[in-house]
Amino acid sequence: MLVRLLYVSQPVGPVTTTITTLILEKSKSHNKKENITGILCQGSGLWMQVLEGERSPVNALYSRIMSDRNHRNVELLSMEEITTRRFGEWSMALVYLSKDDPLVKMSHPEFDPYSASAKDATSILDELIKTGSPIVTMEP
Ligand SMILES: Cc1cc2nc3c(=O)[nH]c(=O)nc-3n(C[C@H](O)[C@H](O)[C@H](O)COP(=O)(O)O)c2cc1C
Repeated sequence: MLVRLLYVSQPVGPVTTTITTLILEKSKSHNKKENITGILCQGSGLWMQVLEGERSPVNALYSRIMSDRNHRNVELLSMEEITTRRFGEWSMALVYLSKDDPLVKMSHPEFDPYSASAKDATSILDELIKTGSPIVTMEP
């Protein structure tokens, strides 16, 4: 059974290239092994990540991610059963939100993923994915 999970979190301290590189490296090897795909949006003092795959491995990865000390306030926004992947071509893709940003704040001053509905968070995420740049992709 395929699922798509979406969560939001807040990085602890500044997000350095080293942290990001490490996350992508882990994702590349681990996600590929577990057939997990997805996207990680970074910026505006937030991380939003989509994980897609079989339910058990997605759950196991999410538990690991939740206990990662690089972030806090990890909050599950949605987990749904799906029939097809949206990010099937990447073990993990990274979208940088523009650095002085914030799409999230400029075009959506009211956007707070912690209180948004899963539907609103998903549609804003779609917008961010379209407009955020550059995208670093890790092919599966
Ligand atoms: C925002 C964020 C996203 C992450 N995404 C992934 C991921 O997609 N895949 C992964 O294996 N690890 C990811 N990690 C890293 C895990 O939390 C954890 O450190 C790693 O899986 C542990 O791997 P290890 O047991 O091999 O050291 C992420 C961490 C953070 C902070």
